[in-house]
Amino acid sequence: MLEVKGIHTFYGLSHILFDVSLKVNAGEVVCLLGRNGAGKSTTIKSIMGIAPPRQGRIIFKGEDVAGRKPYILARRGMGYDPDDRRIFADLTVEENLEIAIKGYVEGEGWNKERVYDFFPALKVIRHRRGGVLSGGEQKMLAIARALMGNPELLLLDEPTEGLAPVMVRVLEEQLMNLKKTGLTVLLAEQNLVSTLKLSDRGYIIDNGRIRFEGTVQELRDNEEIQKQCLMV
Ligand SMILES: Nc1ncnc2c1ncn2[C@@H]1O[C@H](COP(=O)(O)OP(=O)(O)OP(=O)(O)O)[C@@H](O)[C@H]1O
Ligand SMILES: [Mg+2]
Repeated sequence: MLEVKGIHTFYGLSHILFDVSLKVNAGEVVCLLGRNGAGKSTTIKSIMGIAPPRQGRIIFKGEDVAGRKPYILARRGMGYDPDDRRIFADLTVEENLEIAIKGYVEGEGWNKERVYDFFPALKVIRHRRGGVLSGGEQKMLAIARALMGNPELLLLDEPTEGLAPVMVRVLEEQLMNLKKTGLTVLLAEQNLVSTLKLSDRGYIIDNGRIRFEGTVQELRDNEEIQKQCLMV
């Protein structure tokens, strides 16, 4: 589904990503782990075309899409849940969902009803404005909104960041249910324990470089790399 090959990404003169490569196969949940400032969001933004890489390739569904604009990538099937949520504060929950509809999708696509089945809490608050939602509700809405575009690949940037532990558990369960639908996900996270429960494979990024790649079990077993790259 996705293959990132040796990308180098810059913000102005700052060289942030160094030769980052990773792969996400259809139906997999792959995590990208790393501490603050490691380059997780930059990797996701590079893939989504928001921070296009200066070098390297991004192959999405067999086509090199490096340098394509975010809206083109969204149309091709990438969904993005940004680290800062960016929902519309003046629109209601329902309007936030409606605005994300990309067009008519035949068959088993996502629609409001299915999203509400998945996130019943959102249905309850569907007439509330985005700006008054709690952090957890906003996070849920941001994920739901990404689903409304019927993504083939969902890029999730720290979905549980800043949430109370009880909300983290709710969201984890919802992400687990999403995984069961067969959705392909690239998940950026700092939290090792909850991420490993969800993921099939993982990468660890540190200082803009991929330091480790392996199955969830290999990641769990490798305390050395966890100490080096994840403990703050
Ligand atoms: N717009 C920007 N301009 C310049 N530097 C940036 C910009 N955004 C991020 N950086 C720098 O790029 C590096 C990687 O940041 P990035 O946001 O990708 O990390 P992260 O792994 O997502 O961290 P966090 O867990 O805090 O979200 C950091 O050193 C950061 O300071
Ligand atoms: Mg980040």
